[in-house]
Amino acid sequence: MSQSPQPVYHSTHDAYDALPRGNDPRPANVDSYFKAHLHSANYHRALETIHRDSLSAGLPDIACSAPQAKFLMLQARMANAKHILEVGTLGGYSAAWLATTSPDTKVTTIELESRYAAVARQNLIKAGLSERVEILQGLGRTVLMEIENQVRRGERQKFDFVFIDANKPDNLAYFNAALSITKERAVIVVDNVVRNGTVVSEEAAETDDRVRGTRELIEAIGKMEGVEATAIQTVGEKNYDGFLVAMKD
Ligand code: DHB
Ligand code: MG
Repeated sequence: MSQSPQPVYHSTHDAYDALPRGNDPRPANVDSYFKAHLHSANYHRALETIHRDSLSAGLPDIACSAPQAKFLMLQARMANAKHILEVGTLGGYSAAWLATTSPDTKVTTIELESRYAAVARQNLIKAGLSERVEILQGLGRTVLMEIENQVRRGERQKFDFVFIDANKPDNLAYFNAALSITKERAVIVVDNVVRNGTVVSEEAAETDDRVRGTRELIEAIGKMEGVEATAIQTVGEKNYDGFLVAMKD
């Protein structure tokens, strides 16, 4: 039996081009298989309804996949998270998942677009999770400043888990705000840190603010004291992308 030759990678871009994506059906098929076996409980259906209703309402198809969202929730559960902050609600899909961390977990989620926030509100009511999720509509940086003031005045508890998944140019500002309103040993997860491999490209950073924002974040975290972080690349029904996971000392 002959073995197919190993590909030779000349650059990161070559490596990326050899990865399954585009019309390769395998990543989506594998997600379908995982969902069929691991996402078959009744409550999964209510969460998938949020995903479907968000798309029907015309929201962009940029929410996490079901396995990504459940992985996020399991990380929050491993951290025993009770006060979760999300930046970037969209239709409330990941917020709903995070609200299933435990019966006494509360999620605060920030959304700039009032139309998205309204869709999210309806979705969370329909899923029976609206009591566990507070949606704050406004500019991320402004709302986070208000939250910082509330935490400083003792009017709001510090968070123990943060998911940043909003406009990428503000990633570092959101991360710094998250550091100031979280407890010791808090976990901060940031979505979309790979962007089809463009994160490594200085050229892409010059023309794409989203890539620049993500690179600024990663390079700043690398110089921070008191935070440990790494990032994991993902394939699946979504594009080739990844999560950054950070933990405070
Ligand atoms: C985009 C944003 C996201 O949060 C995501 O998960 C995928 C894509 C975007 O703005 O293109
Ligand atoms: Mg995202």
